[in-house]
Amino acid sequence: MKLTQSQILGTGSYAPSRILTNFDLEKIIDTTDAWIVERTGIRERHIAADGEATSDMAVEAAKNALAMAATDAADLDMIIVATISPDMPMPSCAVFVQAKLGAKRAFAFDISAACAGSLYGLSIADKFIRTGQAQRVLVIGAELLSRVVDWTDRNSCVLFGDAAGALVIGPTSDPGRGLMSAHLHSDGMNAGILSIPGGGSRYPQSEEVLAQKMHKVAMNGREIYKFAVRVLPEAVLEALAAQGLKPGAVDHVITHQANIRIVESVVDRLGIPREKCWLNIDRYGNTSSASLPISLDEANRAGRLKRGDLIAMMAIGAGMAWGSALMRW
Ligand SMILES: CC(C)(COP(=O)(O)OP(=O)(O)OC[C@H]1O[C@@H](n2cnc3c(N)ncnc32)[C@H](O)[C@@H]1OP(=O)(O)O)[C@@H](O)C(=O)NCCC(=O)NCCS
Repeated sequence: MKLTQSQILGTGSYAPSRILTNFDLEKIIDTTDAWIVERTGIRERHIAADGEATSDMAVEAAKNALAMAATDAADLDMIIVATISPDMPMPSCAVFVQAKLGAKRAFAFDISAACAGSLYGLSIADKFIRTGQAQRVLVIGAELLSRVVDWTDRNSCVLFGDAAGALVIGPTSDPGRGLMSAHLHSDGMNAGILSIPGGGSRYPQSEEVLAQKMHKVAMNGREIYKFAVRVLPEAVLEALAAQGLKPGAVDHVITHQANIRIVESVVDRLGIPREKCWLNIDRYGNTSSASLPISLDEANRAGRLKRGDLIAMMAIGAGMAWGSALMRW
């Protein structure tokens, strides 16, 4: 079978217009702008409007990506939505996106890999394209985390924001471009350090689940931090080694952004200059699966990415689930 490399044909993003600053948070919980900026790098985050759902944000990001790729939604073969905050438990967020876009030909499904979801989605899309089973794939990371965080828990609520990012992916005939490899990992032994424990089959919705706020994000920030700064450099080195490359070859780092100190620690350990990393956590907070495609979209629209540039991607989230990818733009 002839394998065809995949490349990104279009990028898009969307964030709700409502902004919640650290100063706004000072009024509802015991925190300060100074603490949040110093410990996380976050200054503000976007919050979805009442009545706005995850698929609504996903569709806006998708439209932008489809326009850039000059692709009609009707020509999409496949839609993947990476999300842990879908419109409803069933059916998938992806089928709502499909319906709103009028992507009649596409099959559509969600993946649950939390903040690593878009990277997982990119890798899945790549496999379908390489094998010729799909020509046009839409990968979206969309999260409406403001509805699942506990707004009384200062340890976690300051971190997250709502947004969506989208990528249109297709085959390339240019061997010097496209996704070179993706490397995915999971460690369910650490599932407990970041979860929404209630509302599923283990702890179905009940008055007790609600009373104990088990339907909200539960997080051990310190353990996640330690885990991330250990495994992310390893993952990037794994991707580079697969291509016989060293960190010095990297032109851009496009990463999921959970905390600026995690990102800086990882690139410092790799010896990659911090300026090569596209940072926007100050404006978005942690948007989970949306974070990586939004960063790629912003860097792309800013004209930062030049043809043939080497892009290292990395992401990590609940699971734990993490990974890396290398791409020539
Ligand atoms: C959450 C995180 C910012 C906390 O930073 P930290 O430097 O580890 O801070 P600590 O947890 O050690 O807390 C230090 C103190 O600040 C306090 N604190 C926590 N949140 C606070 C807030 N929003 N405002 C003010 N003080 C806060 C803590 O209660 C603690 O006080 P104590 O020493 O009196 O107990 C950091 O651990 C982190 O970003 N972890 C990763 C989280 C993550 O990425 N989650 C998503 C994964 S995709």
